[in-house]
Amino acid sequence: MSEPIRFYYRGAVQEVANVSPTQTVLQHLREDLHCTGTKEGCAEGDCGACTVVIGSLQNGQLELKAVNSCIQLTPTLDGKALFSVEDLQQADGALHPVQQALVECHGSQCGFCTPGFAMSLWGMYLKQECTPQRREIDDALSGNLCRCTGYRPIIEAAQRMGDYPRVELDRAALTLQLQALRRGEMATYSAQGRQFHAPRTLDELVRVRAAHPSAVLLAGSTDVGLWVTKQMRDLGDIIYLGQVDSLKSITTTDGMLEIGAGATLNDAYQALCVHYREQLSEMWQRFASLPIRNAGTLGGNVANGSPIGDSMPWMIALGSEIVLRGSAGQRVMALEDFYLGYQKKDLLADEFVEAVRVPLPRAGVQFRTYKLAKRYDQDISAVCAAFAFTLDGGLIKEARIAFGGMAATPKRATHAEAFLDGLEWSEANLKAAMKLMEQDYAPLSDMRASSAYRMKSAQNLLRRFWFETRIDAPLAVTGVNAFACRA
Ligand code: FAD
Ligand code: FES
Ligand code: FES
Repeated sequence: MSEPIRFYYRGAVQEVANVSPTQTVLQHLREDLHCTGTKEGCAEGDCGACTVVIGSLQNGQLELKAVNSCIQLTPTLDGKALFSVEDLQQADGALHPVQQALVECHGSQCGFCTPGFAMSLWGMYLKQECTPQRREIDDALSGNLCRCTGYRPIIEAAQRMGDYPRVELDRAALTLQLQALRRGEMATYSAQGRQFHAPRTLDELVRVRAAHPSAVLLAGSTDVGLWVTKQMRDLGDIIYLGQVDSLKSITTTDGMLEIGAGATLNDAYQALCVHYREQLSEMWQRFASLPIRNAGTLGGNVANGSPIGDSMPWMIALGSEIVLRGSAGQRVMALEDFYLGYQKKDLLADEFVEAVRVPLPRAGVQFRTYKLAKRYDQDISAVCAAFAFTLDGGLIKEARIAFGGMAATPKRATHAEAFLDGLEWSEANLKAAMKLMEQDYAPLSDMRASSAYRMKSAQNLLRRFWFETRIDAPLAVTGVNAFACRA
């Protein structure tokens, strides 16, 4: 039986029926609720004009996160709270401190981007008791583009918003509202001949997947959302993973960090950086933007398996595993074995990705990952490199090299690795391995980079790794910008 979608917005519970399961939250806001403060710029998660804040209960705790409403689907709001720029104005009509600061710092000209900036700033305001640091501001605004004002006044507004009398959100009341909306069991929303299943437990997910093997699995919607808004694809039935709390768990067992497939990119990278702070904090910061990382999952990144995805090279280099689950139970394999060819994976029709397991740091292993893209923030890699060498003094016991952007799948450099195993980590051997990479890869030319650029830069990234890990006088790890790590 179809259930209406129920969510909290502007002080009331909204019940929604009969909208397409692939209607976006932005369309719902503008076209159905007639709240047109939120804007559409790119419809692909790139510009931030559509930024809203979503409140949800995660294991009973209230979380409030800025996301891109243009690529989130309306049924995913079930059981959550939606906040748009209309929510910022105070009951007496006064502007919220983030709006007041934008006005006083002249942070708006044409104003098209302003609601999105206001919501990203509010997302940060909700977390901060005091004035945010510059690097936190840059990170919070990494998904917002402004074409006319320039960023300095907006950054000033972020620094100034804490100077006004604090305006608190009533978190206790919101938590109660969300508890009241919580469903005990799986809900199915049907409209326009399509079904949207939202299981709540792993068992329900296994059952619904077996019953609907051709349905699209939807996690954070940061890839799938674009199939709707850019490719105009008919998704058919959908199974949403975002209500399965147990898929979001992050635990440590047997020397591995196990990250549930439903953990957001932000939560996953935060947990990873506890162990690999020096190596992964730049990748964390440069992965898309904060609103994308607030919604997108590590499981979705791995399951999508894009040849230019940023997590697979370093996970493969470290020897990570992928955990699959289906009606027949669990399967575990090395992540690299999951990728069979371009968009082809070793995933049965009734299976889904349950988790990934990342080895914790081991003595003697030197590990680095590097992302090359045209912009620092919010850009897809042209080449993404990862190296994990087990060194014994100056000798290489095991060399693991993996690249994104160099082949149809994330791929190891098996010729270079086989050559290096057992040899000295010397400049001469480095140069020979760089040459051998020409046998490992035949990269494509596309709008991001030419084949020759990809090959040259991939070889040079191995050289950079050597500079940082050679036995005599290694260079310090350097970030692309000044923010090498985050608190
Ligand atoms: P979804 O979009 O929900 O799903 C993606 C795919 O995985 C679908 O095929 C879905 O069916 C499948 N899937 C999801 N979860 C599972 C599961 N548990 N089991 C089986 N199949 C599953 N990617 C990068 O690597 N680096 C970037 O810098 C980057 N920048 C981006 C910037 C923008 C503006 C956007 C829109 C995307 C960007 N991406 C980037 C891509 C995207 O954010 C990531 O791939 C993200 O990790 C996808 O996760 P998701 O939860 O949103 O997946
Ligand atoms: Fe550009 Fe949503 S409209 S990010
Ligand atoms: Fe015009 Fe930002 S004020 S795009």
